This record gives sequence, structure tokens and C-alpha cells, in this order.
Amino acid sequence: MPLKDKPHTGVLISFEGSEGSGKTTQIARLAKRLQERGRDVISTREPGGTEIGEQIRNIIVHNSKGDEMCAETELLLFAAARAQLVRENIAPALLRGAIVLSDRYLDSSTVYQGIGRNLAMGPVNQINRFAVGNVMPHITVVIDVPTSVSLSRIRQRASDLPDRMERENIDFYEKVRAGYLVLAKGMPERFVVIDGTKSEDAIEKQIWTELEKRIFGAPEKSKGKVRSVSPKLAPKKVPAKARSKKAAKR
Ligand code: TYD
Repeated sequence: MPLKDKPHTGVLISFEGSEGSGKTTQIARLAKRLQERGRDVISTREPGGTEIGEQIRNIIVHNSKGDEMCAETELLLFAAARAQLVRENIAPALLRGAIVLSDRYLDSSTVYQGIGRNLAMGPVNQINRFAVGNVMPHITVVIDVPTSVSLSRIRQRASDLPDRMERENIDFYEKVRAGYLVLAKGMPERFVVIDGTKSEDAIEKQIWTELEKRIFGAPEKSKGKVRSVSPKLAPKKVPAKARSKKAAKR
């Protein structure tokens, strides 16, 4: 199913970082703040978020034979789950003007499969783009924690056995962490890097400070007003002429 090339008024915000970086907690906190500002918010997680995606997640993350899976298959399965999620949940939500908070998105594949597992970047980027179509994140929040912190948080988790991805070695997670920082440096207009070693409250505050101005625009302090949509994130206006041409074609 191709994605319709319609302009949308929603905002897609992806959260990235190693395991144990605290993404899930911060997504819940941000969702609450945005809802308090009257926004329609949905949260999704990758891999998964749809019935098909959850089945794929099970194969990748928990399958007992998972250790035999090659990196190429892993990349394609993550991309397949994402393609479904975009078409079933994310694109429709953006079209109705919602803010979508995604726990991981295509940068996870770039970093884990491309950089972590050494797959060639060309095919990784092409597969990523094919899966998401034109639905790219407006903002990506990377919660950065040192690998030692990330690994000790994984060990402390309630679940008895770490899953397949979590059994990777320290070198792999060093590559993942460095990979995110390289991506963020290369695309500062999309990425926000947050120090994940601070307290949950401090991280929440910093994320809000960064995102509030990007989503709602800088507060107009002198007039005591807050603009409703940052011009950067406002939907592209289609000129009336182009609109009527399109309508005539249908
Ligand atoms: P999950 O339990 O969701 O971990 P987390 O809470 O840290 O997000 O497991 C997802 C695992 O899959 C995680 O190790 C990252 C990995 N992953 C990839 O390797 N590539 C991808 O494209 C995605 C979305 C996730």
C-alpha cells in the first residue's frame, strides 16, 4: 500500500538510545505534558505496535532460535514491522493532526544493524526509506547513557533472562552509542541529545524545554502568548491552483 502524499498537520517524534536509557519513562511523561496542552497524542513502540508487528517482534527478540538469525534477516524484519506500523498507525494519526511518540524508529536500524552489525549503509538506508515512505521524524530525541550504565540497568531489570539483543557484548553497545552521536551530529536540525545519567525529573524538564519550542514555537514573552504551531513544523500549504489541478486529475 503506497502512502498518500498528503500534507499532514501531525508531528512525529522518535525516541532513540541504548537499552536502559529510560526512553519508555520519558515518552510517558512527555505524552502527559502534551495532553495537558490539549494535543492528541499516540505512543507506539518498535518493533511491534501492530498485530503483525508484535508477531515479528517475537521472532526477532524472543525466538529461542534467534541466535541463528543473520543480520540481513534482522534488518528486513525490523523494516517489515516498521512498514506495517507506519501505514496502520502512524500515518493515519499524523493525518488527523496527532503528535506521535515512537519508541524507536528507523535510526535504530541504521545504528543497530548498520553500525552495530556492520551491514553496508547504502542498502540499510534504502530499506529504511522504503519501509517508512515519506514519514520521517520531525524530531528525534536520543537519550544518551554510557555503556556501563546501560548494561547495569539491563541487568537490574525485573525480567529473569536478558533477551537476544540484550545479550550482545560491550563492544556492540559502544558502537550503538557512538552511532547515535554521529547521526545526531550530522543532522542537528532533527536530533536532540539528552544526558540520560541525570534524574528522571531533570531529563523530563530538559526534553520539554527542547521540544516545547520546536512544537509550539518560542514563547512570545513580551505579549505573554505562546504561538500554537512552530512555522518549521506547520504543514506545507498547497497553493489553491495546485489543489484544484490535483482534484481535477482524480
Ligand atoms: P526492546 O525490548 O523494545 O528494547 P528497548 O526497550 O531498549 O527499546 O527491544 C528492542 C530491541 O531491538 C533493542 O535491542 C533494539 C533492537 N532494535 C534493532 O536492533 N533494530 C531496530 O530497527 C529496532 C527498532 C530495534
